[in-house]
Amino acid sequence: MTFDVRRVRAAYPALNDGYAYLDGAAGTQVPAAVIEAIADTYRSGIGNAGGAFPASERADAIVAECRRAVADLTGGEPDGVILGPNMTTLTYRLADTLSRRWGPGDEVVVSRLDHDANVRPWVQAAERSGATVRWAEVDSSTAELPVSQYAGLLCERTRLVAVTAASNIVGTRPDVPAIAAAAHAVGALCYVDGVHATPHVPVDVRALGADFYATSAYKWSGPHVGALAAEPALLETLHPDKLAPAPSGVPGRFERGTSPYADLAGVAAAVDHLAALDPSAAGTRRERVLASMAAVERYEGQLFTRLLGGLASMRHVTLYGKAARRAPTAFFTVAGYTPRDVAARLAARAINVWNGDNYAWELAGAFGLRDSGGGVRAGLVHYNDEAEVDRLLAAVAELAPGGVS
Ligand SMILES: Cc1ncc(COP(=O)(O)O)c(C=O)c1O
Repeated sequence: MTFDVRRVRAAYPALNDGYAYLDGAAGTQVPAAVIEAIADTYRSGIGNAGGAFPASERADAIVAECRRAVADLTGGEPDGVILGPNMTTLTYRLADTLSRRWGPGDEVVVSRLDHDANVRPWVQAAERSGATVRWAEVDSSTAELPVSQYAGLLCERTRLVAVTAASNIVGTRPDVPAIAAAAHAVGALCYVDGVHATPHVPVDVRALGADFYATSAYKWSGPHVGALAAEPALLETLHPDKLAPAPSGVPGRFERGTSPYADLAGVAAAVDHLAALDPSAAGTRRERVLASMAAVERYEGQLFTRLLGGLASMRHVTLYGKAARRAPTAFFTVAGYTPRDVAARLAARAINVWNGDNYAWELAGAFGLRDSGGGVRAGLVHYNDEAEVDRLLAAVAELAPGGVS
């Protein structure tokens, strides 16, 4: 199938403003169907969940459908999908809950490839419980996270291994199944940050070996909602703090307060949008999601090759990361300009890119960029096209000494 990016772009009202949205790694735009699903929730009348009247039953139905949709996206079980404000909040919640079982002598393993949201909650929970933190290091010349080091990091006292499915600045996709298998071999749990990977590749939490898989709908065309997929049987063993009258079952006991029902309707609509990206895909929503995300991966891969090739040909550009398997996210610096200046120059050309460490705090440190303003991040998603990539390349080329690279 050839990926019909014109058709895809037409679904997004915001893409008509003339900007090249190469900031998708920080959050995507939203298709009209998602906006409509959110607006329709309010138009139809919505109550709090759990009541005896139709507007409340609609809220219950929205929550149930949202769990089914996230399960279809990730390959998990609807009853194992915890919904919350964002990945950071959910990860802190799980770190708080899991670390109650930890004590001195226990160990947790985090990586320097990860966004800080999959580092600091575990480091701080370990500090509180007296557990020891071990660090998986990145090869800063390639931005690979070598799996071989995990043999030396794990022991029978390891309780948890936290690792990302893709770096949010350089796109590195480490060998999560191998890391999870190593964790399981010593009886540890594996917490996978799927925030950056989910928009770019077909996801199967069981194939990854993820005991927990965190994702954020606003990275894949949905509203600002986070979700965590886990086996319901595992969640049954965990007891987070909760209000006395709040649900005691799983996954409800992990969710705090009243849910944003309209946004949850938008999450399900976003999964439907992803499932339809390959219009020739047939079968269940899960099957259509897998086919569509495979098409997205191929399309984005071609676009990324064009982007990387163009940037690599410019002598005034330094590119970071060259992992074998990557999400389509480029991180670079430009000689003579701070990353912020580059982003501002590109913004003046109606091109959105991010600058800084993008919360990949440890990795920015490993690259030696933490104190110099980080880098420039251009992230592709499925609605970007060749014309946008070429605009970015032309604008970066203009920053060469003398104006041409
Ligand atoms: C890889 C990765 N992990 C975690 C997060 C944090 O996600 P949230 O904003 O949902 O807390 C981000 C956000 O940019 C991210 O890119």
